[in-house]
Amino acid sequence: MSTEPPESAVPPPTGAGESSPAPTRRTFIATTTAVGGAVVAGGVIGGPLLSDPEAVAAQAPPTSRVSLTVNGTRRTATVDNRTSLLDLLREHFGLTGAKKGCNAGACGACTVLVDGHRVNSCLTLAVRLEGAEVTTIEGLAEGDRLHPLQQAFIDQDAFQCGYCTPGQIVSGVGCIKEGHTGSPEEIREWMSGNICRCGCYVKIVRAVEQTAGRK
Ligand code: FES
Ligand code: FES
Repeated sequence: MSTEPPESAVPPPTGAGESSPAPTRRTFIATTTAVGGAVVAGGVIGGPLLSDPEAVAAQAPPTSRVSLTVNGTRRTATVDNRTSLLDLLREHFGLTGAKKGCNAGACGACTVLVDGHRVNSCLTLAVRLEGAEVTTIEGLAEGDRLHPLQQAFIDQDAFQCGYCTPGQIVSGVGCIKEGHTGSPEEIREWMSGNICRCGCYVKIVRAVEQTAGRK
């Protein structure tokens, strides 16, 4: 029969003759905090100095210069290559009519025309549009005279909060130009990329019909 006590009955080491005591919760936290600080400090010390112009230039994202025509005016900007057309319009040119709804191509709030075609500007890289003609909601009216579809949206009361409305109108202009207005069903189908969270679809279709001359 064994004379050794069970493991649970063995008292913890007292430190006599031991190389180090068992860590307490307090010493464990203090140690890991110190190690973490050293790692962070090492990263800063070992990395490039932010005051070094070459290092800063090497870390800067690549940029490109792009020139395009927006609502009839030639515009030029130097942008981060990842900049979307939507951000170019809103952040660089101050044209905030196109809205950032999902920023992922799912809602149509950012719709603009590029060379006459409807695009989701949030998914379109600005640097690919050298020489393009862009039309936004700001470019539809002629002075004080609204575009017929803008007037139709008012006539038909085709909005509530209005957040989707710039995208709906620009998309409707494209839809009419494409000739997809043969019936309410056809308009619905070809406007289906433009979401209205207020549910104004019936009146939006009527506005497009009115402008297309079907009503
Ligand atoms: S913001 Fe571009 S599709 Fe929604
Ligand atoms: S009017 Fe509110 S989202 Fe369309």
